[in-house]
Amino acid sequence: MMIKKIGVLGVFALAGMFTTSYAQSDIEKRVEELLSKMTLEEKIGQMNQLSYFETNAELLEQIKKGEIGSLLNIIDPNEVNRIQKTAMENSRLGIPLIIGRDVIHGLKTVFPIPLGQAASFNPQLVEDGARVAATESRELGITWTFAPMLDISRDARWGRIAESLGEDPYLAGELGAAMVRGFQGNDLSSPNSIAACVKHFIGYGAAEGGRDYNSTNIPPHLMHNVYLAPFKKAIDAGAATLMTSFNDNDGIPASGNDYLLKDVLRKQWKFDGFVVSDWASMSEMLAHGFAKDSKDVARISANAGLDMEMVSLTYHRHLKELVEAGQVSMTDIDNSVRNILRTKYRLGLFSNPYVDTNKASTIYSQEHLQEARKAAVESAILLKNEGNILPLKENLKVAVIGPLADAPHDQMGTWVFDGDKAHTVTPLKALQTEYSNINYVYEPVLAFSREKSTANFEKAKKAAASADVTIVFLGEESILSGEAHSLSNINLIGVQSDLLREVKSVGKPVVLVIMAGRPLTIERDLPYADAVLFNFHPGTMGGPAILDLIFGKANPSGKLPVTFVREVGQIPMYYNHNSTGRPAPEGDIMTLDQIPVEAGQTSLGNTSFYLDSGKNPLYPFGYGLSYSKFEYSGLTLSANSIPMGGTITAKVTIKNTSSVDGVEVAQLYIRDMVGSIARPVKELKGFKRVALKAGESQTIEFTLSTDDLAFFGRDLVKKAESGDFKLWIGTNSSEGLEAGFSIL
Ligand code: BGC
Repeated sequence: MMIKKIGVLGVFALAGMFTTSYAQSDIEKRVEELLSKMTLEEKIGQMNQLSYFETNAELLEQIKKGEIGSLLNIIDPNEVNRIQKTAMENSRLGIPLIIGRDVIHGLKTVFPIPLGQAASFNPQLVEDGARVAATESRELGITWTFAPMLDISRDARWGRIAESLGEDPYLAGELGAAMVRGFQGNDLSSPNSIAACVKHFIGYGAAEGGRDYNSTNIPPHLMHNVYLAPFKKAIDAGAATLMTSFNDNDGIPASGNDYLLKDVLRKQWKFDGFVVSDWASMSEMLAHGFAKDSKDVARISANAGLDMEMVSLTYHRHLKELVEAGQVSMTDIDNSVRNILRTKYRLGLFSNPYVDTNKASTIYSQEHLQEARKAAVESAILLKNEGNILPLKENLKVAVIGPLADAPHDQMGTWVFDGDKAHTVTPLKALQTEYSNINYVYEPVLAFSREKSTANFEKAKKAAASADVTIVFLGEESILSGEAHSLSNINLIGVQSDLLREVKSVGKPVVLVIMAGRPLTIERDLPYADAVLFNFHPGTMGGPAILDLIFGKANPSGKLPVTFVREVGQIPMYYNHNSTGRPAPEGDIMTLDQIPVEAGQTSLGNTSFYLDSGKNPLYPFGYGLSYSKFEYSGLTLSANSIPMGGTITAKVTIKNTSSVDGVEVAQLYIRDMVGSIARPVKELKGFKRVALKAGESQTIEFTLSTDDLAFFGRDLVKKAESGDFKLWIGTNSSEGLEAGFSIL
């Protein structure tokens, strides 16, 4: 092999000069050639992933023996080079390792958490963010990220909703595919591409009660129409790898689900990348009571088609014996190894597994920071703006209060291993630098979001009284969301609501800025804030982005990618639910107070709602205000009916009737009125970000084919069904102009 002759130093110097992409047919040939030379032990080695702690003699020995296919969590490029050199030069077949890391919303330059990015409804922005993350990662030798997370989540209690792209399968699919394109680029082997990993397959976000790792019970139609849909889209976009989830669905843990991994993923979807387990999700089948011992774990997962085991070593310990006993087939092993080697070839690792440590760094470059700032601007959602208090004039005196005004660590959000808080620009820091013209007084009052002491409340009131307007920065510390950080109460935590009330009691206008990892139940806080700007943890550049919005350099355009409930007890509440047989009426419904004392048994109108919190959420999916005002008019369809296989075009005019330039996210929803199974009351089928200058109007159009209206019906086959449809285009999932058409 030429690389061996050049030696490692020569290779580093040449890094980047290689053309490492092979034609697919060439890759298949190379994979087969290599596979034919491999011993069973070497094959099993490729299926084994370990977590990196240090480069010691034992690790190097294992690599030399070909016992490791991948390591996760090395971020030192020199160590990556040392390890790859050992694999390339000192193992029998010279197979490079694939180096994984959770690069979820940026590596060093941290972007808004995925749920925030989803609020942008902007695939290009999401793609660009993933590209930045990939560039910074590959620079350190990371060639594989465990993202995007495509778990549909309808439950804000679940801490990992932060990592999700929201509750809607269409939005999550579009943005997930964009993230895959961003991470992988056009060519996986290019120096700023890394392999994506769609996760967690499948249903993890439907954890019962929002408690992490809990069982899920997703029946087949829902599984195909909602939970699998974004995965299919991301795989069609070329996602290189996929991760199984921790949960059991209807009794079958995902890492042992042969139907989903073999029939759906491989046979139906033709996925040819590789599948990795989640961290010990294979051996956790013991706790699930699905495997009797660790050998049984290895047998079940290998037979299910799971290619690489993350850290729990059951393949390493038992696969050989299982193959020899005929309990795992050589065909399954070969297929898994093919999938892994194919991906390594696509990444160009065989030609150049090394990091060029002499290359100028792009980490925290101005370009990356500006991308992150743009993402933070587009991810913020304006929920309330009474009397158009926002944007603020720069000559006002401002009181800045609250624990999130200067929380450089927390602002970055969950799943940040590598972002350095010293680089975070908080709102306070932005006031001290870029916005140093603003006259402000700062009182944190609470040191962190959970703090319970009210000792400094008087200071807050004094500061508010001394200013024209108060900006209160509340929310969640980053550790309150993310993996294993579920909550059963999603009010503003601690005494933050009390602080807000105290500040408002001073009588001056209050702007509430929230930074959180999940939707919160903030109805009780709304009376005490004239304006509310909601940010899912906005990342490194959140501070300047928020000030840009507050002072009107930028105009909010984010829309909620999840329903905001009024009370936690309303969960799950999501816009694309099926209709009950007794839907709540359009108008008023009975409230708790209207029920007479000692009322006799009554069915209270016979419809589906809560006596104490009604039928509606606080804010619907797709909701978000702007400083501009947009008016929709003239919705027309190209036809009243279309044949199966045909298309329909919907046109609508949007006018910016205000004096402020802005961007509106126009959303198209449909309802399939009658189906072979009950259909959701609304489904998002298109969205467009429309930039409109003050006074400008524009006619936009969406074209839908009958394929876009297809779903898995009674027979679990995906197809559109003839019949009537309603269609809406509007500013959120509850408001829009309506039209109707049918498929003949
Ligand atoms: C998480 C995965 C993650 C993996 C590796 C697990 O605990 O569920 O999402 O990719 O760890 O860090």
